[in-house]
Amino acid sequence: MHDRIVSDIDIDQDIRVARTLPARVYADPEIFKAQRERIFARTWHYAGHDDLVKVVGQVYPFTLLPGALEEPLLLTRDATDRIRCLSNVCTHRGTLVVEGAGHLQQLRCRYHGRRFTLDGRFHSMPEFEGTKDFPSPADDLPNVPIGSWERFLLVSLAPVMPVADVLAPLVARLSGLPFSTLAFDPLSARDYFVNANWALYIDNYLEGFHIPYVHSSLAETLDYGEYGVELARYGVVQLGIAKEGEPAFELPPDHPDDGRRVAAYYFWLFPLTMFNVYPWGISVNVVTPLAVDRTRVSFLPFVWDESKRQQGAGAGLDRVEREDEAVVEAVQRGVRSRLYDRGRYSPTRETGVHHFHRLLAEFMSTD
Ligand code: FES
Ligand SMILES: [Fe+2]
Repeated sequence: MHDRIVSDIDIDQDIRVARTLPARVYADPEIFKAQRERIFARTWHYAGHDDLVKVVGQVYPFTLLPGALEEPLLLTRDATDRIRCLSNVCTHRGTLVVEGAGHLQQLRCRYHGRRFTLDGRFHSMPEFEGTKDFPSPADDLPNVPIGSWERFLLVSLAPVMPVADVLAPLVARLSGLPFSTLAFDPLSARDYFVNANWALYIDNYLEGFHIPYVHSSLAETLDYGEYGVELARYGVVQLGIAKEGEPAFELPPDHPDDGRRVAAYYFWLFPLTMFNVYPWGISVNVVTPLAVDRTRVSFLPFVWDESKRQQGAGAGLDRVEREDEAVVEAVQRGVRSRLYDRGRYSPTRETGVHHFHRLLAEFMSTD
């Protein structure tokens, strides 16, 4: 099976000769299954924002990548005021330890009363006096690697790269923005369900090539000729540049993009996380692969200037999303065809897609 999965997923480094991903990568349930361990278990994923565990004792259980990893995890703020990500599976017989968000002094499993401290250490257990070599470190709740950028938390089950390597493009570009005033807007958060493979959604996100064809409203405000794409080791940065007279960031003179009329920064962190940064704030888009041909995309808005909400490239996001969904769902139907397998890349417009396909092939070919 291994050979079948990796054979001919190699993507040539030279975009001028490379062919795109084979169609079966988007449609084969066996490949989707293999991606769980090879890609999703080894990379960093968005887990939430720090207000979820704002004070000591606050706990927030969640499932990491339902449909793909299905890993029950728990965010806590421990007694030393540090945010932790723990396994939410009791080390006795495996039930979930915490079933709802709240405030706790200790974690207590309701099945047989095992207790843990907020940093995951085993604390006590009734009726275990006769058990030999007990407790041992195996009775603690495993700590899961966690990293943060500004207000945002990322976690990974078995990361093959430091989180700093993934976050580097954000750190380089976005210092100096008013993160302290950034507030989550739960009322306008929403989930979209797309009948397509997760990687088709990422492909679409990683090029502005389709903007003139698919997004007439966005094309009115962005300068297509100036659209920028930059590759990072584990991500892609796209810069939407405003047309003359259209809204843009007011960047400080020492900023790397000073002099450019940036309307939007689109950061993609391999494989599933997007930070779209607009003059009004940040729309975090979290892609959740539910099945080989079904994907959830969560739009999580964090606002620092409500007055700019309806302006420029950051306005009308719902319409743009529906336009993307419609086209991506059409691609999903197309990649099932017996008459299509692979395409070619535009060397000027599809460097981001090529880079993603190279990363996907890299992770799929290594255990
Ligand atoms: S499963 Fe948790 S105490 Fe038994
Ligand atoms: Fe789009």
